[in-house]
Order: sequence, then structure tokens, then C-alpha cells
Amino acid sequence: MARFSELRAPCLLLLVFLLYSSLRLQLSQGLKQRRVYIVYLGERQHEDVSLVTSLHHDLLTSVLGSKEAALESIVHSYRYGFSGFSAMLTESQARKIQTLPGVVSVKENTMVRMHTTRSWDFLGLSMGVDIKQEQQPNELLAAANHGDGMIIGVIDSGVWPESQSFADDGYGPPPSKWKGTCQAGANFSAHDCNRKLIGARWYAGPDIDRRFLQGDFLSARDSHGHGTHTASTAGGNVVHNTSFFGLAAGTARGGAPRARIAVYKACWGTCSTASVLKGIDHAIHDGVDVLSLSLGSTDEMAALGTLGAVTRGIPVIMAAGNDGPTEQTVQNSSPWLLTVAATTVDRSFLTVITLGNNRQFVAQSMYVADKGGDEFSQLLYYFNDRCDPDYINSTDIHGKVVFCYTPGPGSVSAPPKYADIAATVRRNGGKGFIFSQNNLDSLDLYAIKGPALPCVPLDFKTSYQIAVYCNRIGIPKIKISTTRTTSGSEVVAPRIAAFSSRGPSPIYHGVLKPDIAAPGVYILAAAAQTGAYKSLGVSYVFDSGTSMACPHISGIVALLKSVHPDWSPAALKSALMTTGNYLILYIYS
Ligand SMILES: *[C@@H]1O[C@H](CO)[C@@H](O)[C@H](O)[C@H]1NC(C)=O
Ligand SMILES: *[C@@H]1O[C@H](CO)[C@@H](O)[C@H](O)[C@H]1NC(C)=O
Ligand SMILES: *[C@@H]1O[C@H](CO)[C@@H](O)[C@H](O)[C@H]1NC(C)=O
Repeated sequence: MARFSELRAPCLLLLVFLLYSSLRLQLSQGLKQRRVYIVYLGERQHEDVSLVTSLHHDLLTSVLGSKEAALESIVHSYRYGFSGFSAMLTESQARKIQTLPGVVSVKENTMVRMHTTRSWDFLGLSMGVDIKQEQQPNELLAAANHGDGMIIGVIDSGVWPESQSFADDGYGPPPSKWKGTCQAGANFSAHDCNRKLIGARWYAGPDIDRRFLQGDFLSARDSHGHGTHTASTAGGNVVHNTSFFGLAAGTARGGAPRARIAVYKACWGTCSTASVLKGIDHAIHDGVDVLSLSLGSTDEMAALGTLGAVTRGIPVIMAAGNDGPTEQTVQNSSPWLLTVAATTVDRSFLTVITLGNNRQFVAQSMYVADKGGDEFSQLLYYFNDRCDPDYINSTDIHGKVVFCYTPGPGSVSAPPKYADIAATVRRNGGKGFIFSQNNLDSLDLYAIKGPALPCVPLDFKTSYQIAVYCNRIGIPKIKISTTRTTSGSEVVAPRIAAFSSRGPSPIYHGVLKPDIAAPGVYILAAAAQTGAYKSLGVSYVFDSGTSMACPHISGIVALLKSVHPDWSPAALKSALMTTGNYLILYIYS
């Protein structure tokens, strides 16, 4: 442990508790309608997994009347982490199974969220800090040989295999313990895996809403971006010269850049617990060393699934959730998990705003136009409910900067639709958009909407002062400078991101969670080449969320495990929590 003494004081948060939240069986629904249920049978009773699955079939047959009906109904058989299965059942069938000997519990399947954000607009996952900051090669990184030989399993929305973060130049064959596979599918062949991205599986059973499947690749290919971002943060290659239109320029890399990656696609818009459990079960079979799940659940079935992995020596790292700063919002709070909160990093994207009276304010944005910023434009002032895309669309904003002022989070009935307003401003030839916002930790949303348009969120104090100026002057004017990246001592960091879920557990107040914190704000990591990212033509994108923080810790756990292969998940967790300080976290990121 002396080796990690530099890791000292926990930047770690902490708190809280035991898991379990309410699984709400929707009893009101008709008895005939079939839904996906998860049946938990406890520890598996046979070494031979085919016997475990036969047992599942026999049990279902005894309730459904025929083997055919059983095979038609079963969705997934779980046989490595624990014994259980998911199946399409009516409520009365599910109740009947509950009474059978050997059945511990039966619960309806639940859907869980990816932890990027509270906004559907905001995708992805992360990594990459300004490497100009890089110091001496870190001792742990060197001792672990950058994670060589480790396999990180990522259960998420899949992967974009062509990203440089997953290129396999210089890699030997997968570690001999690897027993996984590369499952082909739409736009993803078995050759899309390589010696870096060694495995890919996907789950598109009846537990997934068809509408989500239609808009996605029926394969491990990532149409959402979240899984690509998180996997590259945990174990992506060292990739030089990355940036987002020049911002955060530097080297992107995963926490364990020489680790191998195996992806399990269980998320298609949302993630189904039944599929996540299958991903965990497969990952245990396949031989992963570390499991990284940037998704949220308070589901006791999911908790039992992760317990199966941890009892087999596989540490499971999960995101705390993005429901902060309200307390008792943390998810994934089972004691055996490493639950990760998100912090800022010591990097800012500074934009100077100058008013017509030459008063200046410094704010953050991701405005990356080549030119502009050097001339004044007229500033149009919209107050409270006027901050509405339809209303703004009805006004003449061409060549002008739109300013939305809300004096506080309670001043409007619903949060203004800033992303839609930004789109309106862009479409109608506006010169920029500035607005007051409670949570300033989610810039990337506006970057994705259009880095060529200045979109600047402001704190309430600054926006109040600008509102006062607008009210005093006949024709208010503003100039917005191009964003410049700063890092180091000018920036106060880390602090816990506003959105990061806080403990303690809403259910068991005595269990302290989250366990640790890692960078999760404006993290640059690999992009899937779909949607907005494709149209922007970028390979690395920003994202924020505890989803981005989680794989930082997964990468570090892989390094530690590589140096101490005999340490249990609990020992790895303890070592990190009692010795970590924020430096190690950002050096890796
Ligand atoms: C996926 O494959 C189909 C069929 O080969 C092709 O038409 C389509 O362009 C591919 N999509 C992408 C995003 O590569
Ligand atoms: C990064 O890009 C610059 C300019 O294109 C080039 O001079 C430099 O060699 C590149 N660095 C690396 C490590 O590829
Ligand atoms: C914006 O206004 C124009 C003209 O008034 C109208 O044609 C257009 O449909 C509006 N756009 C939206 C998105 O409401």
C-alpha cells in the first residue's frame, strides 16, 4: 500500500447504504397480458451450466404445460453469476412460479437509464484531459504496464469499433483466459472485433421496446454514442492530437490504455434489467477482470446480478446517477459495488462577454468559430416565459444575440427549452445565445447543438447584471469572444458536479454512498459516427455525467488489479477509497 500513499485523502464522497428500491409490479394490468419477468433461483446448483438451463426449461414447462411453450417464453437463462431466467409470462403464471420450490423471487423486468444526463440530448461518455498537464509517468500506470493483460467489460449501448481508441496496432492475441465471442449483426461483422476490442455481444429480446430497436443497429454497433464514449474512457488507446474543434486539445486515452475491451450491448435508448443481467452473466463466463456499468438502477434483481460477479472476484463499478444536487438520490448503492460520483476537472472553456458599456464577464462555453467575437451585435432581452422557442421564432433575431433571463430556478413553471432556443437562433440567423441557468455543468449539450454559434450559460448573478444593463440602455450591445481552453491552477477543481447524485441511500440511510468521485464534467472521449457527431465530423466529443466518471474508476481498478491480481473486489475498493486523491484521477483521464 505504501506505493499508493500519494493517493491520500479521499476526494471520495461517500455515503450510504444498501440497495433495493421498490419494484412496482403493476398489479392493475390485465392478467392475460404477457410481460418480461425475472426469476431468481439463488446460487446455481450445478457446475454443468447446461444442467442449469435444463432446470430453467423444466421449471417453465411445469407451469406453461409444454416444452415448446417454455422455449417460446424464455428470454434469457442466467447460469454463471447465479441461477435464474427471464421469460415472457402473464401475471398469474409469474405468481404460480413464485410458489414453486427453489424459487427465491420473481419480479417484473425494469428499465434503467444510462447515466449521462437528465437530458435526452446529451449523449456519450468520456475521457481525455489536457495532456499538456501530464507529469512524470505515473507509478501505478507503469507498474501495471498500462493495464496490459486486463479485460474490461463494458455493459452499455455498444461500441463504434472503427474508433482509433479501439485500434489494435501492437497488441498480441487476447489473454488466454478469454472465452468470449464477437457476435455479428447489422453493420458489425465478427471481424469488427480485434486484439484490442476482443469481444462484443448484444441483446435484442422481447424485453426491449421495438421502437428502440428500429432506430438502432441490430448488433453491438453503437448508435447512441454512450457506450463508445465510456469504453474509450475505461480502456481506450492513447490517441494523440485529439480535440473538439481545437478545444481540450491533447491526448485522449483510457484509464488503462493497454487493457482489452469487451462490450455487452444491453442499452437501446434505455437499458433493460433482463438484458443487463445477461451481459453480466456472459461477462463472468467470458473472463473479464473488471465490469463497468455507466447506468443506474435501484432494482434488486440488478443488484443480485452484480453480486454474482463480485463474489466471483470481478469488481463492479457503477455510476451514482445524475439526479443531484438533491440529497438521497444516489443509485447503485449496494455495498459490494464501487459507486462513482462526478467531479469537475481543472480545466475551463473560457469565453469573455463584453457589453456595449465595456463591462466584461467571463463565462464558459464551447464556441469554436474561426472568426467573429470581435464585433458588437445588438442584444435582445427575453424575460421568463418569453424564453420560449416559439415566441423567439416569432421575433426578428437575424444578426442579433438572444438573451434569456430567468431570475432563479423557481421563476418559470418549466425549465426553458434552451436546446430548442439555440436551434431557433441558429436557424434564424442569430449571432448568439446567452441565458441564465442553474446547472452550469452541462455545456456539452450546447456544443453539440452547434459549436459555431456562441451559446453561453450564465450564473444568475451575471445574468442579473446583464438584465439591468439591458433595461437601462436603449439598444444594448454585446460581443462574445471565441472560447479558449485554460487548465491548471487558474481553475478551482475538483468540486462535485451539481448533477452528481448525492447520498445517502433513500432507503437505507446508514449506508454511505457514493464511494468515490472521478472526472465527469466536459469529458472528451471517442464518438460514435452517428447522428449529430457524424454531421459535425468529429471523432472525439464532450460529454458530462456520472456515466463519464464511472469508467475512469474502472480503468484505475484494472490497473490496480493488474498489479495485485490476488486482491478481492473489496480490497481493491478499500485501497482506492482510503488512498485516492484527485490527482491520480485526473492524471489518468
Ligand atoms: C449499414 O449496412 C447497410 C446494409 O449494408 C447499409 O446500407 C448502411 O449504409 C450501413 N449503415 C451504416 C451507418 O454504415
Ligand atoms: C499532432 O499534429 C501536429 C500538427 O498536425 C503534428 O505536427 C504533430 O506531429 C502531431 N503529433 C502527434 C503525436 O501525432
Ligand atoms: C418559425 O417561424 C416561421 C415564420 O413565422 C414559420 O414558418 C416556422 O414554421 C417557425 N418555425 C418553428 C420551428 O416554429
